[in-house]
Amino acid sequence: PIYRASTTAPVNIAVIKYWGKRDPKLNLPTNSSLSVSLDQADLRTHTTASCSSSYSSPDTLTLNSKPESLEGARPQACLSSLRALRSELEEKDPSLPKLSTLPLRIVSSNNFPTAAGLASSAAGFAALIRAIADLYELPQDPTTLSLIARQGSGSACRSLLGGYVAWDHGTEADGSDSKARLVAPKSHWPSMRALILVASHEKKDVSSTAGMQTTVQTSQLFKTRAEVVVPAAMEAMEKAIAEKDFESFAKVTMRDSDSFHATCLDTTPPIFYMNDTSRAAIRAVENLNKRAGKIIAAYTFDAGPNAVIYYLHENREAVVGPFKRALGEKEGWLGQQGAAIGYAEI
Ligand code: DP6
Repeated sequence: PIYRASTTAPVNIAVIKYWGKRDPKLNLPTNSSLSVSLDQADLRTHTTASCSSSYSSPDTLTLNSKPESLEGARPQACLSSLRALRSELEEKDPSLPKLSTLPLRIVSSNNFPTAAGLASSAAGFAALIRAIADLYELPQDPTTLSLIARQGSGSACRSLLGGYVAWDHGTEADGSDSKARLVAPKSHWPSMRALILVASHEKKDVSSTAGMQTTVQTSQLFKTRAEVVVPAAMEAMEKAIAEKDFESFAKVTMRDSDSFHATCLDTTPPIFYMNDTSRAAIRAVENLNKRAGKIIAAYTFDAGPNAVIYYLHENREAVVGPFKRALGEKEGWLGQQGAAIGYAEI
């Protein structure tokens, strides 16, 4: 027989950024982080995992119809953790089929264009872990599975839980308390929306993994960010979400994005993730907040030049309107090569 399970996981964008590892091997972060899942328009990775004695070894992964390697240390750590949990079940109940020994076939696709420049590894690893956990009928809850996803890609642990999710840095050396925690479900603040501005289609030149290692080794601002700036921001952000206080949410989001990019600039050699178009987007957000007489939009940038702009549904016209008029009235993913910005409302 072929055993099979399918699932999906949402893209998440951090409003308090994870940047820096206290243990690169176990993928443990120096600071906690917090994200919002972009599932209003269902930005997700869909994954089917199957296993069968009729499959030949090794395990395989197909992403957006192209074969991808599972050979790296990170996917291997995830697969062996999941197999170990399945084999525990099989030892306890010998009547269960021995799925843990069978080759796996994993087929994944994103329902958003790569042009969006969204970090798909987070949703990708989260969906992979969830699909195999379902295939193996593992009893572990999403928070426990987030410990495994974290080893694939740090930000992936937050995509196992929808809505507003924190990743607590934890203090244990073995990483057992470095996991995702639900701050609030999506339904707590359902009017939250996001707009993605595509500032470039080029692949980022410094990967997150490499960039954060250089920052840990060389940045003088990094220690203050990890020890002082982020702990205060986490507290303020959790309060803003609990109280559905958009102004505070926006202020903390923008400050943390600025702090993260300042730390990148303070790295030797400096890491430039934002470009002129990104800076124009920041100015545009400042202008529309000024025009509104209050803060109705918040920008944030990950390890790349594309902006994610958070706003509340009731302010849609005031926030999205100016970008639409500047970029053309056409809906959808408009990104073009060069400096032209495309956008998508989600
Ligand atoms: C800027 O999760 O991609 O998006 O753990 O090395 O795979 P690895 O890093 P990754 O880093 C994400 C960095 C970020 C901020 C964030 O998502 O919190």
